[in-house]
Amino acid sequence: MERENWTSRLGFILAASGSAIGLGNIWRFPFVTGTNGGAIFILIYLASILFIGYPILVSEMSFGRFTSKNPIGAFKKIAPKTAWPWVGALGVLSGFTILSYYSVVAGWGMAYIVKSINFTAESNFPAIFSTHISSLAEPILWHGIFMFLTIAVIGAGVVNGIQRLVKVLMPILFVIMFLLIIRSVTLEGAAAGLEFYLKPDFSAITFQTFTDAISQAFFTLSLGMGAIITYGSYLSEKESINESAGYVLIFDTAVALLAGFAIFPAVFAFGLDPASGPGLTFITLPAVFTQMPFGIFFSVIFFLLLTIAALTSSISMLEVVVSFLIDEYNWQRKKASYLMGFLIFLVGIPPLLGYSSFSNFSFLGMDVLDTYDWFSNYILLPGCGILTSIFVGHIWGIENLTKEANKNSRFKMGSIYALLLKYIVPAVVLFMMIFNIYQTV
Ligand code: PHE
Ligand code: NA
Repeated sequence: MERENWTSRLGFILAASGSAIGLGNIWRFPFVTGTNGGAIFILIYLASILFIGYPILVSEMSFGRFTSKNPIGAFKKIAPKTAWPWVGALGVLSGFTILSYYSVVAGWGMAYIVKSINFTAESNFPAIFSTHISSLAEPILWHGIFMFLTIAVIGAGVVNGIQRLVKVLMPILFVIMFLLIIRSVTLEGAAAGLEFYLKPDFSAITFQTFTDAISQAFFTLSLGMGAIITYGSYLSEKESINESAGYVLIFDTAVALLAGFAIFPAVFAFGLDPASGPGLTFITLPAVFTQMPFGIFFSVIFFLLLTIAALTSSISMLEVVVSFLIDEYNWQRKKASYLMGFLIFLVGIPPLLGYSSFSNFSFLGMDVLDTYDWFSNYILLPGCGILTSIFVGHIWGIENLTKEANKNSRFKMGSIYALLLKYIVPAVVLFMMIFNIYQTV
């Protein structure tokens, strides 16, 4: 059967960027940067994106297009009757786990669309945030609405249509980010934040800096769970994978860096703690908005766009789970979407309750949401990434990879992929994984 293709290269780049750009950039990147000492983290993060993220991104796209299959089917096609398809299964499990708590955080963002209306310069933003996440009805409602939106898009199979919306909305997001940055850096006391963000303090490097940078690289580029394999399977032969991957990487990195520019100067100007964790974006940005003309208007639009950015990521996660059930078990798209989406909603309830009913829960010192996040980003994604790079490097072969990735490409790559995928990526990521487990446990 002919597989439906993205209508154009732009369509694919938008879809893949839609998957990449999301809460990872605007929520996770700033708080991880904040807990890791700022500028020094960014240097190591950029290196991780380039030397680990890019080769895996190219591998997943190529592998997906070559096989035209969901992640499990893709491994089955090239290595039937082996254990390799389990790597794809691991990806489906990651999609399931990440989406469950991703939707909770996206729900916080949705709640802030409405909350924005009452923000004033006198609001106590740390208190507003902690009151919100430790309440029950509201977070559950928004988590449910966000999952429902994700299910509706995937159930109707209109991913392509949603991406067209992105083409219009993305530039607006950029404009608001620039306005935020201008306001943020002109606040009194912003200079200390700029220094934190731009001047690397080499004495702050710890092993954690590397593990957090590498795992953030996986999360932000949607790697290690088959989302990019699945999207690649719809990519037309005419398009260059080397180049498409380059664009996705540049857009994703740009949004993350801009978010940091908007957040850190303000963090210091308002005397907040850069290492305050998952609340950082939700506490800082509303405060900046209240210092801007038409602040409420911009705040509403910003959280609306954040929700849409999160939605274009969440649909890529659910699509992995759903396309697996369709391809391998002949499920109907609607049934797979609603059933799996509902299960994911339920799995998201414990991290949601982690700030109220389950606030006594602690796994190695982490609350429920942090535990889900840790398990996904330090075990599942990198684990899957290592196995994918070993598979591409040694089983499918660098020759097949480069043939696919270089097709219709203005720049050709070969030996650099070989070196990275066969040896460096698996070794470095494995080392970081083991060390992190050792350190955390
Ligand atoms: N890349 C997305 C983000 O940065 C999150 C994501 C992870 C999406 C894994 C799909 C798969 O928000
Ligand atoms: Na991202």
